[in-house]
Amino acid sequence: MSPDTGNPAEPHASDLHARFSALREALSTEIIGQSRLVDRLLVALLADGHLLVEGAPGLAKTTAIRALAARLEADFARVQFTPDLLPADLTGTEIWRPQDGRFEFQAGPIFHPLLLADEINRAPAKVQSALLEAMGERQVTVGRQTYRLPQLFLVMATQNPIEQEGTFPLPEAQLDRFLMHVRIGYPEADAEIRILALARERALALLDADEAVPERLPLEAVFAARRAVLEVHLAPAVERYLVELVLASRDATPYDPALARRIAWGASPRGSIALERCARASAWLAGRDFVTPDDVRAIAPDVLRHRVLPSYEATAEGWDGDRLVAALLDQVPLP
Ligand SMILES: Nc1ncnc2c1ncn2[C@@H]1O[C@H](COP(=O)(O)OP(=O)(O)O)[C@@H](O)[C@H]1O
Ligand SMILES: [Mg+2]
Repeated sequence: MSPDTGNPAEPHASDLHARFSALREALSTEIIGQSRLVDRLLVALLADGHLLVEGAPGLAKTTAIRALAARLEADFARVQFTPDLLPADLTGTEIWRPQDGRFEFQAGPIFHPLLLADEINRAPAKVQSALLEAMGERQVTVGRQTYRLPQLFLVMATQNPIEQEGTFPLPEAQLDRFLMHVRIGYPEADAEIRILALARERALALLDADEAVPERLPLEAVFAARRAVLEVHLAPAVERYLVELVLASRDATPYDPALARRIAWGASPRGSIALERCARASAWLAGRDFVTPDDVRAIAPDVLRHRVLPSYEATAEGWDGDRLVAALLDQVPLP
């Protein structure tokens, strides 16, 4: 990343960074005007976490994870969450093999390194919990056997912002299994025009059956990049700022007693770890080997909005996690 340090390991590091920049570039040509979604997908990949994406249908959520899967040496599966989905549809089941006189495990879609859990709030709590547990523990238990999930395991769950009838809200206590909760909106006019052009191009390529097969990044490169991210420098003052933000989410009294009363529940240490990891990954993606306070600030809303719950009264006054995090960012002074 900093080519002038003369460290023999550096050319490798900068090459790694170049590969991720190229990956981001490639994804941005396919997912137009949703740079945040692309960026957060890469941050999740680098920080070894899962994404909850909230946005209306048709905003390129499926397209985004598919495009990532096409450029990584990693398989992809999509599970549509429905009210009749069973945990076993996700994890897999033991199947009786009469010819062998024993059970054999048939792995479910959760064993794919990249998993799209579409409309996660349309399945009942049992299925949601099976997914959230697997996300946290990186293993699933079926019958008496425990199976490890792949080393690369990234879940992108989607949720429609409009609470439809018959949906099951995700359990708040388990929401923090998601590294980030990203909200996406409709593209601007210019982007929408480019989307039309791209869709035409796609349709033509399909007719000509000449779709280019992109080069795939080996998983070793992903793991090497994760290592580089963990080695990004975090100055004590920036670390302190990050921790102060999380502590303020638990008790904002020293900053603003009224804000403190609006928060029923703040972020756990899992939240601090997530904020640190994501800030590091953002810094690394930006080509730096140190974290700035702005890296923390910029990623904080996506890392914290689902970990900070408004009190009952505050909810009635229109406060949500988003607004609370914005208020916390206003209150906690930068180092
Ligand atoms: N920002 C975008 N960039 C490129 N294509 C887009 C974009 N938004 C929507 N599309 C196109 O619209 C269609 C719907 O996208 P999709 O990924 O299936 O949406 P979602 O999964 O969010 O419901 C696809 O054909 C996709 O290529
Ligand atoms: Mg979709």
